Amino acid sequence: MTDTKTIGISTGGGDCPGLNAVIRAATRAAILQYGWRVIGITDGLDGLIWPERSRELTMDSISGILPRGGTILGTTNRGNPLRYKVTENGCEVVRDLTPQIMENARKLGLDAVIIIGGDGTQAIGLELFRRGLKVVGVPKTIDNDLSATDVTFGFDTALHTCTDAIDKLFSTAESHHRIMVVEVMGRDAGWIALQAGLAGGAHVILIPEIQFNIRKVCDFILQRDHRGRKFTIVVVAEGIRPGSDLRASYEQEKRMYPRAGAAGNLIGDALGMHTKKDVRVTVLGHVQRGGSPSPFDRILSTRFGVEAVELIARGEFGKMVALRGRRVEAVDIAEACGAMKRVNPGGEMVRIARAIGVCFGD
Ligand code: F6P
Repeated sequence: MTDTKTIGISTGGGDCPGLNAVIRAATRAAILQYGWRVIGITDGLDGLIWPERSRELTMDSISGILPRGGTILGTTNRGNPLRYKVTENGCEVVRDLTPQIMENARKLGLDAVIIIGGDGTQAIGLELFRRGLKVVGVPKTIDNDLSATDVTFGFDTALHTCTDAIDKLFSTAESHHRIMVVEVMGRDAGWIALQAGLAGGAHVILIPEIQFNIRKVCDFILQRDHRGRKFTIVVVAEGIRPGSDLRASYEQEKRMYPRAGAAGNLIGDALGMHTKKDVRVTVLGHVQRGGSPSPFDRILSTRFGVEAVELIARGEFGKMVALRGRRVEAVDIAEACGAMKRVNPGGEMVRIARAIGVCFGD
């Protein structure tokens, strides 16, 4: 065991269900197993830029947070501290705040910091590690697109939310003989769309990894109609890859609606125009990031939190916890950065979907 006495915990990037469960598990393990002090660093790494905003986490202060969505520490997906935008003399300049962060970590007495976040946050953690901060990483994202871990916590809860929404849209789609388009998150990966689509029994699934042709989707829907199946559920990933027929409109739509809805509305309009059927579009948006974590995510988060503390205890810095098969293991943080995990269009999950008649529009 090392002589570490005080550790920091930070949550960075977009929030996701299970963050509080990691904070709770790491804090409890640090206090109960090792008698360490734990400092909660607020709003990503802002609490190391302004250390007065950081606060001690105690058994009392983390009580009851296991089922809560979000993060009690706050988070941000803006303001990389290594390239921080500040206004000086009326001009915006970019500053590297590493020296300030290192100095404040020292002032707070931090011997190590657990950084919970997705690829962007882990890349910042890796850079700080290379500059001397003792960092261990915990992967998170509802997108499940980190290649270093089989699963990220938050993904399962997002799947539950999306599947529940698809279930609900089924009955209204069927009653009105409509096409229901559901846009889900996932950035440039189609995991949420593919798995929620499968779980919800969607008829069409459009994901970034498979280029589609809208005409093929329309033909599929019209054939269903012909067979008496007058409604269709279409799950659309926000990062879809349209063929040349829709590409320009998609780029334009994304410029007009950069936050959400570009993909779903584009597909909805195109399907309505070509099939002449009634279409409604639902953009699930940030609903997918909220809510209480599922039991799976609570347990995975707890395992990750405890293992992160164990890594610190063993002095294994620059590492990130990861689920490999059934085991939680340590991998180099570098492995988590850059290499995105995307759906394999030739993989088992897509093959299964095709086998049961799901249309990918290709
Ligand atoms: O990476 C998680 C995620 O929820 C993506 O699925 C989505 O594209 C993005 O974050 C949304 O980010 P923001 O909260 O900045 O709108």
